Amino acid sequence: MVATAPGDGQRENPDRKMTDRPRPPLRRTRIDHGFAGEKAAPPAGQNVSCANDVLNSPGNPVTQCTDMKEAAPRTIRLSDYQPPSHLVQKVRLTFDLREDGARVSSWLQVRKNPAFAGEADQWFLYGEELDLQWLAVDGRRLQASDYRLEEGGLRLLDLPQTFEFSSEVLIAPHENTALEGLYRSGGMFCTQCEAEGFRKITWYPDRPDVMAPFEVRIEAEQARYPVLLSNGNPGASGDLPQGRHFAEWHDPFPKPSYLFALVAGDLRFIERDYSTASGRPVRLRIYVEPENIDRCDYAMDSLVRAMRWDEEKYGREYDLDVFNIVAVNDFNMGAMENKGLNVFNSKFILASAATATDHDFQGIEGVVAHEYFHNWTGNRITCRDWFQLSLKEGLTVYRDQEFSADMGSRGVKRIDDVRLLRAHQFAEDAGPMAHPVRPDSYIEINNFYTVTVYEKGAEVVRMQARLLGPEAFRRGMDLYFERHDGQAVTTEDFVACMQAASGRDLSRFRHWYDYAGTPQLQVSDAYDGDRREYRLSVRQAVPDTPGQSDKPAYLIPFALGLLDSRGADMDLKLPGIEAREGSLMLELRATEQTFLFEGVAEKPVPSLLRGFSAPVKVDYAWSDEQLLHLMAFDSDGFNRWDAGQTLLQRVILRLVDAFRAGSGLSVPHSLIDAIRTIVCDRDGESALAAELLTLPGMGYLGDFMPVVDIEGLHAAREAVRHAVADALKADLVQRYGELQDEGPYQVDAEHIGRRRLRNTLLAYLASLADSETDQLVAGQYAAGHNMTDVMAALSLLAEGEHPQRAQALAGFEARWGRDALVMDKWFGVQASANRASVLHEVHALMQHPAFSLKNPNKVRALIGAFVNANPLHFHAADGSGYRFLADQVLALDPVNPQIAARLLRAMARWRRFDEGRQGLMREQFERVLQSEASKDVYEVAAKSLETA
Ligand code: PHE
Ligand code: ZN
Repeated sequence: MVATAPGDGQRENPDRKMTDRPRPPLRRTRIDHGFAGEKAAPPAGQNVSCANDVLNSPGNPVTQCTDMKEAAPRTIRLSDYQPPSHLVQKVRLTFDLREDGARVSSWLQVRKNPAFAGEADQWFLYGEELDLQWLAVDGRRLQASDYRLEEGGLRLLDLPQTFEFSSEVLIAPHENTALEGLYRSGGMFCTQCEAEGFRKITWYPDRPDVMAPFEVRIEAEQARYPVLLSNGNPGASGDLPQGRHFAEWHDPFPKPSYLFALVAGDLRFIERDYSTASGRPVRLRIYVEPENIDRCDYAMDSLVRAMRWDEEKYGREYDLDVFNIVAVNDFNMGAMENKGLNVFNSKFILASAATATDHDFQGIEGVVAHEYFHNWTGNRITCRDWFQLSLKEGLTVYRDQEFSADMGSRGVKRIDDVRLLRAHQFAEDAGPMAHPVRPDSYIEINNFYTVTVYEKGAEVVRMQARLLGPEAFRRGMDLYFERHDGQAVTTEDFVACMQAASGRDLSRFRHWYDYAGTPQLQVSDAYDGDRREYRLSVRQAVPDTPGQSDKPAYLIPFALGLLDSRGADMDLKLPGIEAREGSLMLELRATEQTFLFEGVAEKPVPSLLRGFSAPVKVDYAWSDEQLLHLMAFDSDGFNRWDAGQTLLQRVILRLVDAFRAGSGLSVPHSLIDAIRTIVCDRDGESALAAELLTLPGMGYLGDFMPVVDIEGLHAAREAVRHAVADALKADLVQRYGELQDEGPYQVDAEHIGRRRLRNTLLAYLASLADSETDQLVAGQYAAGHNMTDVMAALSLLAEGEHPQRAQALAGFEARWGRDALVMDKWFGVQASANRASVLHEVHALMQHPAFSLKNPNKVRALIGAFVNANPLHFHAADGSGYRFLADQVLALDPVNPQIAARLLRAMARWRRFDEGRQGLMREQFERVLQSEASKDVYEVAAKSLETA
């Protein structure tokens, strides 16, 4: 390990741990750089002495008193978990919203937590960036000696067993660019509290295991903010003097503060009446800014489908009288499941055929469903602490994946999900930020909304569903809802329900939650023709990850089929395991296991890990013939696709070697023939054909190389694309023509599949860049049938030196310049284009009036697309891409640390590259560490550098 200590340029002792390394200076103007909690607070007497000054002069921001501290970001550990000292029985909040700030009054009914072992005469409440006005206990205003301001919050002293706590603070939503807490997005007020944003609104035990019913009153100017929303059911509303009005909301379901939400704005809505399975009426509304009112229908339809599905599949009904969704333009994530009031990034609500692609529509359906499903998996049953994040996220992603599979093409959905998992989660799991599905420590929880917690977490639930089978899994889910409704629980509690409902021992399964790293299965086999025996051996190993080595054997579901020489599934028998549709669900539980099949008439071709039955890597010495056989015949659609991908991968990796050796890049005929078969197959599912024809991504391929060779990979992939297009041009053109849809735009699996295949074929053809194919691309762009086809063509036009590139981009800008979501696409295609001048263009686009560093969608569309979707130029050998990334992270960190930290992850796997690039990336990490980084950015940079 060669990480350099910030500032002094010295080698660091490799044995030093995170906690004792020298710290870079931290930004002093932010109060949130330390953790303060029940456990973390310094002992009495030793505390911040500026507390009194602040308290005696109401109006002084608390932030002033942290100047004296240069606290290092602190690591929070699961092993330090303590139950809360106090419980909140009721919350009443009043918001007085003004242009220059908001006044928040809070009243809490509090009692000592009977489950808390220690003394409870003190109580710590979180609070950050709050301008304290006054505090009271049981109606008595507190004096300076009644409490202590500590870093990150305040501690009440000398408390009775039960009491009422009230307070008033001023906050500054108009200055809030971090988009956490109460902030302004355009003309509206809105909130985002997960994970720890509620503490920026008022003093509160802001931790998910404190659940309470909320009553909220909002007061605001009637003309500017006619719509006032919060969680739960609506209560009284009416006019107030001076053109103001109020609305009250009651949420009877006890909830943690992270599910609190408030919205005030000039919004329009569409409405639908829904009747639950048991006949309870629910009023559904989607609120948007006036100009977007005609783009909400698909989201509403998706919501209704999701509500029905949850009733049918899980027996779960909605539980309030109203369900409201609000779309906002400035949002850090996709959407948020606040009880009864989901707040969405407008990207996941707004759509019309003219403005949204198929991918956008599918995203809307999936995210609307995801947030809705959280009502039971997340809200009714929530997380005990943030280490349990996957309890709600992994489970809810699993549920939304299954929903989308039922709504569209199940096979294609599975392939897309696995492609994402392999491209991003496998990479995360193999890098310095690797963490278990249930992490055991973090510096900033916002850095743990990851593909591991979400997507690997969903795979972990899926494996339990597979191991138990549908009936027992449903019984396990029923038990989970019954046992834990209204509670804040752990992933252990979830597995315990699955175990109880099935009677199975899942102790080895729990390792999936506790250890990071992608398990690797080494598979070998032997066929003995004389004895008609086939022997299959599987050895499992999980690589070391930061802080974890020598991992135990997991319980792994391993679905297996054996194909005969005609491509049919052999009849499989193993004692105690029943074959289903030609597949056996084997269970791996030991480091090495051998399965013996008897009466096997010929040497089989194994079909391994069917349906991707576990999130693992499989290593088996395939021959090209075996892969072609599987690709042609496997009864498991997923494995047909996977065999094709493996074959493509092998060809590409061989070409990389040839590229490095300076020899010609020739693509084997057998591959071209296999691709011709797919292109010319008119009976199969179009979307599956498109998946088969899509080349494995650069990131995924890079992991099969000792040192990632970006130029080589790029050249090899382009060579395959070009060779296929060259050899099959006539077939491609013909099939492209046949797939043209004449009728109106329709968003269903079949039409989406046809468009996807057609656009995949077009991308092959475009690589020829001859006048005929240039014409096809330009023609599709000009036809402008729907946004899917328009964007497919525009991204090809934007790629290289197409004669109509400039004109198309300018025309698009003129047409859509005022539509923020559509302009994101325009930024994206330019930032991901393969052109030598792309970084220069990205710089120029940052000056475009539609761009803003304050809007996360814009940052992702432009900067994010360049650093994550343009590997060739981001990894330019001169380091310009890395320097650019660090520049942007440094500029963004004071504005929005969450987004800055996310961007920086693009360099996390710097050690996978050649020494030159490693040095260049390390330099940029060090630069970031020497700045006054937020703890979000600090954690990513420090952990990236400290990998051995
Ligand atoms: N809980 C949200 C979801 O996955 C994601 C989110 C996290 C949104 C943090 C905002 C902030 O459904
Ligand atoms: Zn979620």
